[in-house]
Amino acid sequence: MKITSAEFIMSNSNVAKCPSEPLPEYAFIGRSNVGKSSLINMLMERKGLAKTSGRPGKTQLINHFKINKNWFLVDLPGYGYARVSKKDKKVFQKYITEYFQERNQLVCGFVLVDIRHDPQPVDLEFMEWLGTNQVPFAIIFTKADKLKPAVIEKQANAYLRKLLKGAWEETPPHFITSSTSRIGRDELLNYIQDINTE
Ligand code: GTP
Ligand code: MG
Repeated sequence: MKITSAEFIMSNSNVAKCPSEPLPEYAFIGRSNVGKSSLINMLMERKGLAKTSGRPGKTQLINHFKINKNWFLVDLPGYGYARVSKKDKKVFQKYITEYFQERNQLVCGFVLVDIRHDPQPVDLEFMEWLGTNQVPFAIIFTKADKLKPAVIEKQANAYLRKLLKGAWEETPPHFITSSTSRIGRDELLNYIQDINTE
């Protein structure tokens, strides 16, 4: 898919106030600092479109971006960040939960995980929660540039095998990406395009 336009539309902490246009929507979710906002910028080839930071907890609201005037990409706050106060965590969790339960135009949630790490309880719990709530999702491995090319596939497959040992009967679709080396850009955009034109 060629990206012809990418516009920031709005930030929100209230799902009911998110854009009402019934366009297909895709949301990025995952632990703080996993690279959600960076991946959006890489996909859109716009450096400062989504705000990024080396400090976890940068994205704090539901951010809507309108792409090619006919679909939405959504940048969400990270979960599982220890340094956010308990009260803030609850607020985040509340609207992340509401977002996935109530956003009817959501086509697919992308759960981002750092390719260097083994499955973490907080990610497994979140994927399980999506499954129980019948939210379609795919896994995106991030920061692949941090591994040697020869071990990238191996590491991703080991992660998926561990997932299968849990509650899952089949693995969700998955993508290997790097925002710095642009790995995975075409695959991910083509996947979105294919669903959009189904
Ligand atoms: P929150 O908004 O805090 O939840 O974080 P986020 O998931 O949006 O992460 P963000 O995109 O802000 O990136 C966090 C840090 O990881 C930044 O320092 C990025 O430069 C770095 N980073 C993100 N993606 C990559 C990547 O593919 N490779 C490398 N090497 N670093 C990355
Ligand atoms: Mg972010």
